[in-house]
Amino acid sequence: MAKIDTLIFDLDGVIVDTAVFHYQAWKKIADQLGIPFTLIDNERLKGVSRVVSFDILLSLGDVKMTEADKVSYREQKNDWFVELITQMKPEDTLPGVREFISANKALGRKIVLGSASKNALMVLGNIQLKDAFDAIMDGNTISVAKPDPEVFLKGASAVNSDAESCVVFEDAVAGVQAAKNGGMYCIGIGEPDVLGEADWVVPDIGSIDLNEFESKISSL
Ligand code: BG6
Ligand code: MG
Repeated sequence: MAKIDTLIFDLDGVIVDTAVFHYQAWKKIADQLGIPFTLIDNERLKGVSRVVSFDILLSLGDVKMTEADKVSYREQKNDWFVELITQMKPEDTLPGVREFISANKALGRKIVLGSASKNALMVLGNIQLKDAFDAIMDGNTISVAKPDPEVFLKGASAVNSDAESCVVFEDAVAGVQAAKNGGMYCIGIGEPDVLGEADWVVPDIGSIDLNEFESKISSL
């Protein structure tokens, strides 16, 4: 039986509601290119890198373009996204997240970020949550996108933990797969229909009952 000593959090859609900002920015690009792009399509873009996200978007419309054009569309999308996140404040942290992190820190658990975003530090700075993390793995520190487990395995090793002592919190299908590929217990944040591969699915961090959480992880 493994003692859980580390919690690894995805950022977009788990700690903050920025998953919707990514969608809005990609939707503007999709509209410019005449690509039909729905919230259901967007599930495939969640958790994966900016480069892979745009390639998926282009494949939805069967659109081909040069690498130089791809770079410029990705920059445009990121500029729109950054405009949205620069307005963020501590009160934009999703309900219950700060309390859940504090309660687990008080129990001596390490808190780690495992995000694909290159903007993660800016978001954590704006919501003033950076100092809560013992290690931060983001789009600048990893080389392979989720569903590869690299981001979570590096996060675990940065705090001297191992896969079976970690719990991952993820809202993306690719992220849940990354956690499971890394051999970690995964709590899906969202809909059970979408995140069926997770070990336990809850609507949001704020709805996690601490006693139920302790009981689930103590039996691992
Ligand atoms: C992930 C998001 O957290 O970060 C993805 O779920 C996004 O939708 C990815 O594509 C990369 O983010 P960024 O900020 O580097 O474009
Ligand atoms: Mg996410």
